[in-house]
Amino acid sequence: MEPVQEQRRPWVVGVSGASGTPYAAAVLRGLLAAGESVDLVVSRAARLTLLDETGISFRDARWREDLAEWLARGADGKPDAFGGDAVDVSDVRHWAAGDLAAGPSSGSYPVKGMLIVPASTACVAGVALGLSKDLLQRAASVTLKERRPLVVAVRETPLSGQTLKALVALDEAGAVVLPASPAFYAGATHIQDLVDFVAGRVLDAAGVPHRLYRRWEGELGGSRTG
Ligand SMILES: Cc1cc2nc3c(=O)[nH]c(=O)nc-3n(C[C@H](O)[C@H](O)[C@H](O)COP(=O)(O)O)c2cc1C
Repeated sequence: MEPVQEQRRPWVVGVSGASGTPYAAAVLRGLLAAGESVDLVVSRAARLTLLDETGISFRDARWREDLAEWLARGADGKPDAFGGDAVDVSDVRHWAAGDLAAGPSSGSYPVKGMLIVPASTACVAGVALGLSKDLLQRAASVTLKERRPLVVAVRETPLSGQTLKALVALDEAGAVVLPASPAFYAGATHIQDLVDFVAGRVLDAAGVPHRLYRRWEGELGGSRTG
């Protein structure tokens, strides 16, 4: 019998249409820097937030080019923010949000889990209900039914009771609900530091190693020294 080949086992990253596309970019950079494979799904609404927040039109036909340009942007929107070295996007696979026959729409497609960054309240509601209105929501439902890790980085404020109930449903279904809520103990001096803190917590929830933020070391005021 043929030996079983080691399979590519990516993280599915779902970008929905909440504000916060820099969070998604930071998570994608972190996953790729850690040598993880990525399957990317960008919702239709997320194309609007991406255009609004970065000026980039994300096109299905030229996604690799558009992704590379996006990942080179800092949280302040400036191009080539990370020292000019282009992020290697060769191990990213892109699936159109309307493609309900895509790999991540089936539980038999091998993935490690799914990170929804940022998650809109519409996405939260849809996943909590199992709506599967597009590939992003279907992939999230599949992740839950397969008992794989699902991290939902919700971005909205204030939150309605309706969204709070949907978030409880997601928590009860096994997802990690991770509000895109930066902390200030890690010594942030730039917007990118705040963004990287949230992205780092998303990667922590997924068990992916990173150096995106400075961890608490048990000393008050520690972030101001050194
Ligand atoms: C510029 C812009 C910013 C938005 N910001 C948010 C937000 O922060 N949180 C949210 O829940 N929805 C936000 N929305 C609304 C969502 O895009 C909308 O509910 C959409 O239906 C979400 O669809 P999706 O979950 O399929 O991506 C925003 C929309 C636009 C155009």
